[in-house]
Amino acid sequence: MHAIGIDIGGTKIAGGVVDELGAIARFERVPTDADDSQAIEDSIVAMIELLAGGERMPVGVAAPGFIDAGQSTVYYTPNIPWRNEPLRERLEARLGLPVVVDNDANAAGWAEFRFGAGRLVSDMVMLTSGTGVGGAVIAGDRLLRGGFGVAGELGHMRIVPDGILCGCGARGCIEQYGSGRALQRMANAIADAGGIGRGLAAERATAGGELAGPVIGRLIQEGDAGALAALAELGSWLGQACASLSVVLDPQLFVIGGGVADAGDRLLDPVRRAYLDHLPARGFHPEPVFATAELGNEAGVVGAADLARLHDDPSYAAF
Ligand code: BGC
Ligand code: NA
Ligand code: ZN
Repeated sequence: MHAIGIDIGGTKIAGGVVDELGAIARFERVPTDADDSQAIEDSIVAMIELLAGGERMPVGVAAPGFIDAGQSTVYYTPNIPWRNEPLRERLEARLGLPVVVDNDANAAGWAEFRFGAGRLVSDMVMLTSGTGVGGAVIAGDRLLRGGFGVAGELGHMRIVPDGILCGCGARGCIEQYGSGRALQRMANAIADAGGIGRGLAAERATAGGELAGPVIGRLIQEGDAGALAALAELGSWLGQACASLSVVLDPQLFVIGGGVADAGDRLLDPVRRAYLDHLPARGFHPEPVFATAELGNEAGVVGAADLARLHDDPSYAAF
């Protein structure tokens, strides 16, 4: 049976029709205005209607925030103005299709566990680095949901006491040090400082205004020293977070996803280094594997569809 997966990001909404093996039969993408929650809802409805084409298919919607245990209500989204939003009810009423709402990173992590980098492990942690930092925990072959549905909000673990204010209202969250936005902040600071930041500063002068994500991504690919320093700083924060996560969850695998994962080993090397530098019982604790997401930016769509199928048909053997 095919299912529809929708992934709501900070800058775009992606959607697809996905089969039981995680293959995407049809894919769509539209830009979003993250400040307009009604426009987001309207875009989701239009996209699902287009994808379903009048057929009955279960729908999974991955949203970038805290979701309740009933997979229905978006309690809070740090980067979109949803507060206690009954998203499932609203979508089901407009569409007449069965809908479940899941956390975006949980969906991406589930897809990697089922069909991607995590196929061969029982315990895996995924961090997604985009507009925010998302997390997913697979423990003993199961997606950890917690008592209220919001387990795995790894982006809001505190990594710096009284650090930078976060969209969640707390300070010092890993999201402020490991997201794509944080990378931008770091790259601009390195440009300001001159020295190895000269290449970044020159690009900034050409483009006018702050350095944007795609420019930084290109400079990373070109091996620019300043861009690589920003990436290493980001990777170091993620690696430290992974060291702390290891003592709680002891995964065999960490998967890093989101835009920064395009940097591959240029990102993973500093992550691994920081992980080892901060790992309790280093040398006596088996080392997990660090990998970038195999399913790339489509993981959220694939995972949301698979979770919807599971919910709709409990006899579907997902694992
Ligand atoms: C949200 C998470 C989400 C992540 C990535 C965070 O700010 O709290 O729910 O998974 O961003 O979108
Ligand atoms: Na999560
Ligand atoms: Zn936070």
